[in-house]
Amino acid sequence: MDNLLIIDDNEEFVEDLLLALKRDFMCYTADTGEKGLVQVDQLEPDLVLLDYDLGEGKSGLEVLELLVERHPELPVVMVTKENSARTAVRAMKIGAFDYLVKNAAREEFVEVIRKGLALHRVRQENAVLRRALSKSLGRLIGDSEAIRALKREIHEAARTDLCVTITGETGTGKTMIARLIHEGSARGRKPFVDVNVSAIERELFNSEVYGHEKGSFTGATGTKKGLVELADQGTLFLDEIGDLTPEAQIKLLTTMESGLIRRVGALQDIRVDFRLLAATHQDLETRITEGVFRQDLYYRLNQFRIRIPPLRERSEDIPALLRYFIQKHFPGRSDIELPAETIEALARQEWKGNVREFESAVQLAMVRVREDRLLPSHFALGDGKPTSAAEADFGSLTDQPFNEARDLLMERLRKAYLERYLGQGSMKETAERIGISREVLHRWVKKA
Ligand SMILES: Nc1ncnc2c1ncn2[C@@H]1O[C@H](COP(=O)(O)OP(=O)(O)OP(=O)(O)O)[C@@H](O)[C@H]1O
Ligand SMILES: [Mg+2]
Repeated sequence: MDNLLIIDDNEEFVEDLLLALKRDFMCYTADTGEKGLVQVDQLEPDLVLLDYDLGEGKSGLEVLELLVERHPELPVVMVTKENSARTAVRAMKIGAFDYLVKNAAREEFVEVIRKGLALHRVRQENAVLRRALSKSLGRLIGDSEAIRALKREIHEAARTDLCVTITGETGTGKTMIARLIHEGSARGRKPFVDVNVSAIERELFNSEVYGHEKGSFTGATGTKKGLVELADQGTLFLDEIGDLTPEAQIKLLTTMESGLIRRVGALQDIRVDFRLLAATHQDLETRITEGVFRQDLYYRLNQFRIRIPPLRERSEDIPALLRYFIQKHFPGRSDIELPAETIEALARQEWKGNVREFESAVQLAMVRVREDRLLPSHFALGDGKPTSAAEADFGSLTDQPFNEARDLLMERLRKAYLERYLGQGSMKETAERIGISREVLHRWVKKA
């Protein structure tokens, strides 16, 4: 049962009210504001009925002010002798939840109390979610001003139901941030549906996203809910939103405006309630000038915007990230020494793949290190340009399709052997040294 506290000095009124309320609520009383304030601290009621004309001590409005200040989540219903619009307005301005006249029907009291209690539950739930968010924001590592600002923005975005567009280079944490916003929002316990727009085949887009009815096209052997429908009550995260086709853009816009979707092959619309989060590594403004992204959709998506700076612009985060990833992947070795030269070398890198690339570079370096110091050499860093160890070893080779890269690599390897061994003896001796036949060596020499 919910707890109510009635703060009122009129015994007769309180007795009468208790008769009407005590069946549905656990009621407590206080006959002065001072006593009432103490009771609120001790009982932690779910709602307070507060008399406007308290006889002694603090006035009703003074008590209201204190309650709002000390217990912002507690709904307070102001109770007055007679109907006065001015009093009501003043009380509501200070922060009363609602307002009742003493001689109002007791059913009206019950109704207002029930509404107030419902609000209290939502507020409490939100407070729990916000505390959970503060905790999970700890997963977002970094000491830079950029990260601190991001945390504030995530908090703000989580408090609203607005559409948020998250921009940032690959690997900066867009997906992670979308999840944090969802988890900290009022929808946090409902589904989070992560959709990578560019990963869905174009022909299947409508049926994947909006669902389909059985038999609506060849291969539609059963009725299937679309991703939007799965996100009902929760959050739909559209990753790589810049890749939406023009048709998909129009459809998304109408869905957002109407709140209705229709499965492929269906005759009826379905109402869905979802919050949209979007991410892109592209510059949507440029896409608009190029005529490939709709401006109206862009405005709709940009109700709230979060930009994550690339790692190279916030190298203050490097030490914390380095420690975090060592701890995460090599918990037994988290006491490894991290000399300043290592941090400095890492801070000079370009990190095109941002935090994701940084994480795998740290993993590789930790595999290589044999000493109890992590040095720049373990990272196979280039001179400001390079990136992961693999790229340092194979350079631009990985830009090519694998088969071509393999041929190029073989060619480089052959050249390296020739440079090193050719001319130091007879062809026969050279072939033996390299470990190939004389015929093969002849072919190599011809090609070179
Ligand atoms: N500030 C951070 N603290 C801790 N981990 C982070 C941080 N930023 C990113 N990461 C981690 O880096 C990896 C990449 O992040 P995420 O997948 O969210 O990036 P993204 O921007 O969505 O990348 P993409 O453009 O490829 O979709 C994830 O493992 C994520 O947990
Ligand atoms: Mg992502």
